[in-house]
Amino acid sequence: MSEIRFHSGEDIPLELHKVRIVQKLDLVPVERRTEAIAEAGYNTFLLYNKDIFLDMLTDSGVNAMSDKQLAAMMVADDSYAGSATFTRLTDKLKEIFGTDYFLPAHQGRAAENILAVTFVKPGTIIPVNYHFTTTKAHITRLGGIVEELVADEGVKIESDCPFKGNFDLERLEDLLAREHERIPFIRIEAGTNLIGGQPLSLENIEKSADIAHKYGVLTVMDASLLQDNLYFIKTREESAKNLSLREITKRISNKMDIIYFSGRKLGFARGGGIAIHDKKLYLKMRELVPMFEGFLTYGGMSVREMEAMTVGLEETMDMDVISQGPLFIKYMTEELIKRNVPVVTPPGGLGCHLDASRFIPHVKQEEYPAGSLAAAVYIAGGIRGMERGTISEQRETDGSEHLAAVELLRLALPRRVFTLSQVMYAVDRITWLYENRNLIGGLRFVEEPSSLRFFFGRLEPVSPWPEELRKAFRKDFGDSL
Ligand code: F0G
Repeated sequence: MSEIRFHSGEDIPLELHKVRIVQKLDLVPVERRTEAIAEAGYNTFLLYNKDIFLDMLTDSGVNAMSDKQLAAMMVADDSYAGSATFTRLTDKLKEIFGTDYFLPAHQGRAAENILAVTFVKPGTIIPVNYHFTTTKAHITRLGGIVEELVADEGVKIESDCPFKGNFDLERLEDLLAREHERIPFIRIEAGTNLIGGQPLSLENIEKSADIAHKYGVLTVMDASLLQDNLYFIKTREESAKNLSLREITKRISNKMDIIYFSGRKLGFARGGGIAIHDKKLYLKMRELVPMFEGFLTYGGMSVREMEAMTVGLEETMDMDVISQGPLFIKYMTEELIKRNVPVVTPPGGLGCHLDASRFIPHVKQEEYPAGSLAAAVYIAGGIRGMERGTISEQRETDGSEHLAAVELLRLALPRRVFTLSQVMYAVDRITWLYENRNLIGGLRFVEEPSSLRFFFGRLEPVSPWPEELRKAFRKDFGDSL
């Protein structure tokens, strides 16, 4: 996909691919949607696909795959050891990142587990630009502390800062100067997920890495969302304009000691792993792979997925492929802004993010505005988003609520999956909901797991607001679904 101009002057993202396999979708009536979300404990993770029209929960493992990826799956080598599939994937990673070693893992969080078990002990500090849920859970499980050092602009909802994922370099330097003995590595998250898929600049990545190395601290990149970050470096960073995607990727990887990723995002397949430059570091982590993941040449992944990932990584070096997500997200975000709906700006990668704090300011943070908005958007349109606010946080050790810095509803746009008319349907239903926002109320937990509660916690509405919303929908939309 390229930014091709229309004669009319309209800014419409144009697909540079065609659809060759489709999956039928059902849109169940609002009455069923109201029931289904109640059955799911008002947690969109617990909805079943049969009740969902547009699944915007995530872009994880659900991106459309290319014909070349599917073809590659047919030549997978499933030998237990010494698989040619593994060699092809390792070679591709070496070509792109320049890394000599690769530890396969069944997905991103398995890579995080390996890193945490190897480097984290009680009292360890891991500086990050921003945390990710599974990363933080692995580090804190082992007694480590996650220090968030994103620049202040990162958590401002409305901003024109092109690189909201950037580290605050002064705070990073200060923390490393004081505590480097407790810091085995800094973690740099490309395409910073929880603040709206916001990128870091190449300059900030390089400078953060230099600071870490100055104090003898390793650099680890979470490259799960690197494809979006590469697109933004290429299009927003003046000094990188003339670099190719491969050159930008090499510049980044040259500064990293370790690059891990969720292959459910990077490479458009399912799996993950850790790419490493240095043999000693590789050996330090290696034994955990056969112990917990699978043998060293598949690490719990299907070899078919590994073949698809190899091709997907190659396709990530193509602007026509990686621009589709950011351009669709920009379109959706701008259409919502035209209709006054509060969203995160500038548009990032991963998805379009609604700002629940401004969408429903009457719902207090203790009653989970982002979770309430997720339930309401589902009732309004059969659209499944993901809460990225206080429910996604963990309680403090004393049991008190950790209020999130931002209350967002993420509407992910899995790459090449939805058409523009489906995006416009989502915009329409969200606009209707915004006009009826006073009907939306809060939620409270009825079942609350102690860790990763957003996955399987169950809640209930604090008043019968879902029912009121259903009635208003029926009144305004007549017999339309
Ligand atoms: N790091 C980042 C930045 C992620 O976005 C994810 C997953 C992971 C690590 C963990 O990878 O799922 O393969 O184990 N993000 C998904 C999401 C779950 O929906 O954003 P995984």
